[in-house]
Amino acid sequence: MSYSSFDSPTDRRHRVSIIGAGRVGSTLAQRLVEKNIADVVLLDIVEGMPQGIALDLMEARGVERHDRLVIGTSNYADTSNSDVVVITAGRPRLPGMNREDLIKTNARIVADAAQKAIDQSPDAILIVVTNPLDVMTYLAWEASGLPQRRVVGMAGVLDAARFKTFIAMELGVSIQEINAMVMGDHGQLMVPLPRYSTVAGVPITELMDSATIDRLVERTRNGGTEVMELMKTGSAYFAPASSIALMVESILHNQSQVVPAAAYLQGEYGLQDIFLGVPCLLGYQGVERVVELNLTPAEMEALAASGEVVRQNVERAKVILS
Ligand code: APR
Repeated sequence: MSYSSFDSPTDRRHRVSIIGAGRVGSTLAQRLVEKNIADVVLLDIVEGMPQGIALDLMEARGVERHDRLVIGTSNYADTSNSDVVVITAGRPRLPGMNREDLIKTNARIVADAAQKAIDQSPDAILIVVTNPLDVMTYLAWEASGLPQRRVVGMAGVLDAARFKTFIAMELGVSIQEINAMVMGDHGQLMVPLPRYSTVAGVPITELMDSATIDRLVERTRNGGTEVMELMKTGSAYFAPASSIALMVESILHNQSQVVPAAAYLQGEYGLQDIFLGVPCLLGYQGVERVVELNLTPAEMEALAASGEVVRQNVERAKVILS
């Protein structure tokens, strides 16, 4: 008997489909293949564009020397049997827009993409990236018909990466020494948690005065806007792509990394029937567990306010889709 390694039950090559081959999607594809995490299928509605990017990435293998495959397509059938589907399709923000301004444009795109992609890969884990993130994750979950734990939104990893960066820059410490936690929505009401953000295990509340911490928290909240206003023609994509790659790796390698991500809540933190940024364990089943940190009353209140805005925007989005 002979079979290709792709078909082998013991040595199957992981496959990640990325819906939306724009800046975030194509940068993610590069990360996944060059880090040898998975083969990639890139799908976009713009005919020829995903095929061109895929060919370019395949040709880079002659220098990068890896054996990962990249396929570009506009046909969902080519995404079948993916282990992970990532949705980055939709419009990014432009200067002057907040993430909520994108609801109308992106709701239909994301719901449609989730349904079509999961029809082809019913066993996949779905990672949603399109903004406004927490709202789009809810819509994608509903459209996909997947169990809650198999759907997760990428934002907290990125927000925490930004917080870490600003802490490292402020203290002149290696970023490798830093852990940071950011909960809540991926927007103005996100909840960075200085008490759970540490340098070599020491909370930053012991290392900086409160005015400095407030400044770094504010810069984190505006992290995406700061990049976008400098770029002017689109929004951030390097740090978002790295953040998604980390989540994909934790899932495919069943690492159970604890990361902040938009997970479905069923009573955790006093919240129900909502996707919101919380620390969770990511493994091959998706969200294996939501970690419940001890929050102060003020932190709980901030999280509830963040959740309320997401809930209202989900209702608005449902009206748009109906
Ligand atoms: N199906 C597939 N692809 C689509 C669809 C669709 N229905 N609609 C749009 N796209 C594609 C576009 O053709 C484009 O190539 O989605 C891609 C989006 O890429 P960019 O415009 O470069 O946006 P990007 O910076 O990658 O951001 C994508 O991620 O971080 C979020 O806010 C950001 O919502 C935005 C998303």
